[in-house]
Amino acid sequence: MKRFLQQLLGLMMMVLAIPAQAFNYSDALTKSLLYFESQRSGRLPYNQRVTWRDHSGLTDGLEQGVDLVGGYYDAGDHVKFGLPMAFTITMLSWSLIEYGDEIAATGEYGHALEAIKWGTDYFIKAHTHPNVLWAEVGDGDTDHYCWQRPEDMTTSRQAYKIDAENPGSDLAGETAAAMAAASLVFKKSNPHYSHLLLLHAQQLFEFGEKRRGEYDRSIGIAKNYYASVSGYKDELLWAALWLYRATDREDYLLYVINNAHCFGGIGWAISEFSWDVKYAGVQILASKLLMDGRHEKHAHILEQYQSKAEHYLCSSLNKNHKDKNVDRTPGGLLYIRQWNNMQYVSTAAFLLTVYSDYLQKAKASKRVVKCPNGEEVGPREMVQFAKSQVDYILGSNPMSTSYLVGFGSKYPKNVHHRGASIVSYRENKAFIGCTQGYDNWYGRKEVNPNVLVGALVGGPDCQDNFRDERGNYMQTEACTYNTAPLVGVFAKLHNMEHGGHIQNPILRIHGGHIQNPILRAHLKHPASTASATSPSSFSSSY
Ligand SMILES: *[C@@H]1O[C@H](CO)[C@@H](O)[C@H](O)[C@H]1NC(C)=O
Repeated sequence: MKRFLQQLLGLMMMVLAIPAQAFNYSDALTKSLLYFESQRSGRLPYNQRVTWRDHSGLTDGLEQGVDLVGGYYDAGDHVKFGLPMAFTITMLSWSLIEYGDEIAATGEYGHALEAIKWGTDYFIKAHTHPNVLWAEVGDGDTDHYCWQRPEDMTTSRQAYKIDAENPGSDLAGETAAAMAAASLVFKKSNPHYSHLLLLHAQQLFEFGEKRRGEYDRSIGIAKNYYASVSGYKDELLWAALWLYRATDREDYLLYVINNAHCFGGIGWAISEFSWDVKYAGVQILASKLLMDGRHEKHAHILEQYQSKAEHYLCSSLNKNHKDKNVDRTPGGLLYIRQWNNMQYVSTAAFLLTVYSDYLQKAKASKRVVKCPNGEEVGPREMVQFAKSQVDYILGSNPMSTSYLVGFGSKYPKNVHHRGASIVSYRENKAFIGCTQGYDNWYGRKEVNPNVLVGALVGGPDCQDNFRDERGNYMQTEACTYNTAPLVGVFAKLHNMEHGGHIQNPILRIHGGHIQNPILRAHLKHPASTASATSPSSFSSSY
């Protein structure tokens, strides 16, 4: 027994001996937004900061007679997949909705808006008719035969759509969610654009709701890449919740209440949140309605949503019943699966952070989550756990490497990414063909010539091991939806450590949560007091 205690003491000393690493979250935030510039398709603007990229995909949609120039490449290839692109924009928008003030305090608000608008401008183009949404440009099969820079692309740019006869309620729902959430982001800075986004969102929701079906049944070639495994019911609930938040219209709320049971909203208890499976996000948004205290009438249903939301949170916190918890690596990273595990870590960090803030603002009696293992978790512990995951990402891990590319002194140098792994088109415009790229660049021993700053790669395996090799796509490929949730979390963590930085009380108003009741009482027309530093005063070009 004594020996055991000694060992325990030794272990504790060891833990204490590891110095707590302090990370520059504001730097991480700045870098995360650069990543979206690397992923841009289309004609790049004069103020493009990632200068190793150039125009690409300038004839996208031409064959089909529709302008589909723009949008984002999803990962290390050049297909424009609608479903993950829309989820990326929803998460970026949610980040700004919750942490707009915090992002503005770091000076990154304008860049964050640009990242969203690059997506929403594309969705506007892609939604050519109330019941037509262009879902994909290019296809994974032909794209993956080639290892080329986007600027050299010679692969098929065939575009695929969903319509009334070939529906895709998941894709229509997610795009509606993205546009509704973005409409909230642009509400003050660009009311006209915001209104336009909302109209598209409402039409897309209607389309998805009336013409039911999974998009990968209509567009078979998407199935091997972004199959809609969870179906479309989560996206329809998700879209309705965002539309309710954007419009305050009762019918959207009733949709979420009335379909709660049939759509699995209060049935599914799931421990992952991703571009495919949105139940946890749905449940957390629904919980917020309850916590806001405005929806007593629907409390019975909303409480069931909340109970499932808490299942997700407690599983992530390792406080669920034993076999219901999310696995962790020995180094403490949430571990869902081998291929691109980091996407689940970043979404979990985001949901935990957001929920922690919701708890913080809830009534005193409701400020904890009672987890199935009997423990209670308050807002502080919840956000601290999110921070632990982010710190792991940034370098506090057994490999002592940052998984956010370009951050810190050690990070992946061989990201599985066509553009980053080939000499910049701006430096050498000599055409590089399909297989030439494989021969001369993919298989090269040297590190990538271009740094994909701000990309969050797939990350380590279940034992915290990571092989920084270009061919190891399960670990070294990055995706736009990995980084998107981190935008909000970085801003929150930066603010936690430098709380005083939001000094301008006016900034708080635009986030919709004025802490000071006296100030609140005196500001009858907060919009008219916008200062030059507030998010709402960003140039009207947005
Ligand atoms: C954090 O990084 C930014 C650059 O993005 C830099 O301006 C700032 O000084 C850094 N802060 C600290 C405390 O090192």
